Amino acid sequence: MKVNAKKVKEIVDKYRGRHDCLVSMLQDVQAEYRYLPEEAIKLVADQVGLPLIQVYGVSTFFKAFRMEPAGKHTCTVCMGTACHVRGAPRVLDELERKLRIAPKQTTKDQEFTLETVNCLGACALGPIVVVDEKYHGQMKPGKVAELLAGVKKKSNGKKR
Ligand code: FES
Repeated sequence: MKVNAKKVKEIVDKYRGRHDCLVSMLQDVQAEYRYLPEEAIKLVADQVGLPLIQVYGVSTFFKAFRMEPAGKHTCTVCMGTACHVRGAPRVLDELERKLRIAPKQTTKDQEFTLETVNCLGACALGPIVVVDEKYHGQMKPGKVAELLAGVKKKSNGKKR
């Protein structure tokens, strides 16, 4: 992915003089590219005046940062205890089967990235799948196809 140096500079400028904001800067960069491109990390390090290794270290330390491009939609399955006992592993299996990827992977068409998480704090709704920040509670393997089709349909509708 091509990194827009001007855009990265704008992000850094937003936090100018606030050296404790490196994580926020990287979050903004990730929001722009859906991951942290190496080139963008170098630009941030240059602009902030920090050693590249330090910025790279922060990028790889936090689980929230992605070093590989993410798909257009993020599909997160809660694998916390409450969701687990209510069938989350079967829901995850079905998502893996339908998308043909494992957790932390992205489909070849760059549509979906599959993630897992340990408790979203809404255990009573479990098993939960979150797609693009929308919660889908009481998920069942049989609902997975419909869920994915709905996301694709909505996404295609937005393109027009
Ligand atoms: S275990 Fe899934 S929301 Fe808590």
